[in-house]
Amino acid sequence: MSDQQAQKQAAAKAALSYIEDGMILGVGTGSTVNCLIELLPQLKLAGAVASSQVTEDKLRALGIEIVDLNFAGTLDVYIDGADEVNEHLQLIKGGGGALTREKIVAAASNKFICMVDESKSVEILGRAFPVPIEVLPQARSYVARQLARLGGDPVYRDDFVTDYGNVILDTYDLDVSNPIALEKELNNIVGVVCNGIFAANQADVLLKAGSNGVITLT
Ligand code: 5RP
Repeated sequence: MSDQQAQKQAAAKAALSYIEDGMILGVGTGSTVNCLIELLPQLKLAGAVASSQVTEDKLRALGIEIVDLNFAGTLDVYIDGADEVNEHLQLIKGGGGALTREKIVAAASNKFICMVDESKSVEILGRAFPVPIEVLPQARSYVARQLARLGGDPVYRDDFVTDYGNVILDTYDLDVSNPIALEKELNNIVGVVCNGIFAANQADVLLKAGSNGVITLT
């Protein structure tokens, strides 16, 4: 097993301490979350709200009841991974294309626990990893031009359709030095459904796994 995979598993194991019996848990998407999902059958969850169809299918296969967010009320805990995280626990997410549903479930939860391996820590977001932006299909070219005006280099994610039937523009070279301001500015472009900067509603707890174990940052 690679070091990175071992770190993902360690972060997922650490996340178990935030889950209580009888909870309806918000569950994110991605390979780190998959490590958590494998551990969930040992708990007594009342159910789970899934942040993507992929996660929903995995949870169902393990016999975990899926709850519609509209009937779940405010969740106590949402647990997810990230593509990048800075020292303020602001994130870039959406490498798996589930950013919109992830942002909705995170917003509807009291506590957002983010699990990462050490490769995800960065000083400034968006220098190495592009900002994924979910866009209505008809607005793709218009939004791409607006992103270019902001200095971005949008790349259409080939052969990918989101759970909501939209497309993704993975946008390189954006200046993410003020993540909250850029998150708002991107949301204001007509045709943008959601962007992968999670700064207005950043993680509450970061479980960062490294070669010496998992550290908890708040
Ligand atoms: C999916 C996401 C994931 O949380 C992010 O891509 C991290 O994935 P992984 O745990 O596989 O590294 O935002 O949309």
